[in-house]
Amino acid sequence: MIEIPLAAPDIDENDIAAAVEVMRSPRLSLGPVAEQFEQEMAAYVGAADAVAVSSGTAGLHLALLALGIGLGDEVIVPSFAFVAVASAVRYVGGRPVFADIDAETLNLDPRSVEAAVTLRTRAIIAVHTFGRPADLRGLMDVAARHQLIVIEDACEAIGLEIDGRKAGSIGDAGVFGFYPNKQISTGEGGMVVTSNADAARRMRALRNHGRYESAGSRGKWLDHEELGFNYRLTEMQCALGLSQLRRIEEILARRETIARQYCARLTGNPRLLLPPTDVAGQRLSWFVFVVRLAQAWPERDYVMRLMEEAGIATGRYFGPIHRQPAYAAWSGAGSLPATDAVSKRTLALPFFNRITDDEIERVCSTLEDALRSEM
Ligand SMILES: Cc1ncc(COP(=O)(O)O)c(C=O)c1O
Repeated sequence: MIEIPLAAPDIDENDIAAAVEVMRSPRLSLGPVAEQFEQEMAAYVGAADAVAVSSGTAGLHLALLALGIGLGDEVIVPSFAFVAVASAVRYVGGRPVFADIDAETLNLDPRSVEAAVTLRTRAIIAVHTFGRPADLRGLMDVAARHQLIVIEDACEAIGLEIDGRKAGSIGDAGVFGFYPNKQISTGEGGMVVTSNADAARRMRALRNHGRYESAGSRGKWLDHEELGFNYRLTEMQCALGLSQLRRIEEILARRETIARQYCARLTGNPRLLLPPTDVAGQRLSWFVFVVRLAQAWPERDYVMRLMEEAGIATGRYFGPIHRQPAYAAWSGAGSLPATDAVSKRTLALPFFNRITDDEIERVCSTLEDALRSEM
């Protein structure tokens, strides 16, 4: 039985009270709390506008549509990422093209992105994997030379700062996700930030069945100017998100403390490669704590099994997207040596705000025992 989970939400009494207060109000969707959450999120990230949506995936989908990506367009994405990054491109009829990562940063390598550009390329999705900064300077440079749109996928990176600017505010749009394993959670949910007013207006309509009326007016409720979706986030969810956003600094600081504790405890083990805790000029936002096994031995699955038997959950984070059965058509697409090499050795350890010192110690000693033991 799992006793220490991989992730866990951190919902406090204020968060609960905020959600309950909404339930006593007449507005459960498209109301004042969503507007407030959007405004505070835009201000926090440093973008002109923010649009609350039902998931990070919905956010990626709407960002692509609102920025004009469609049938036959190629969008360059990492394969070492969560599958939604590529799936959203397929939703709009586009074609995800996988580029390789830098084996150190685990984020898109601008040289591999440059090599993947064709006449059909329209955009790059720059994922800030694990809350660590994508090389936006390099990627924006490739984008500028080929006139490409840049969507930042900051689903794992709320609060990440790159050269003094918050992740999500640098590209044409930035997408955030609030699934329960994220730094802040609304159960399911997401947010797209952008300083492109037309794109924001279109995303507001697309998330609401193609209705272009303002949130307060019900006059045009049955007018659908284009094909849209129901990607709305409820007022209860927005209240949860807003309440957590207001204590984001405390949350990020706690996560950084845990990451440093893990690193201090595990440092010096020759069988482990630890994530750097300090990256010059950047403020990290810890999403998961992922170590890399130094070599193919001991097999990751073996370590994971021993950890599980000891009641500790671990994760593979990530299997390459182009190796997934749903992406069989992409399995032969180009060579992604860093993605293939890294993804065989990554291991996510339990990482959540309320993890205790004793639990961290138990995770580390169990991992060390597993690494020492004979297969
Ligand atoms: C990088 C990245 N993009 C997109 C998503 C999709 O978000 P959601 O699960 O909210 O749809 C996630 C995570 O869940 C993610 O980690």
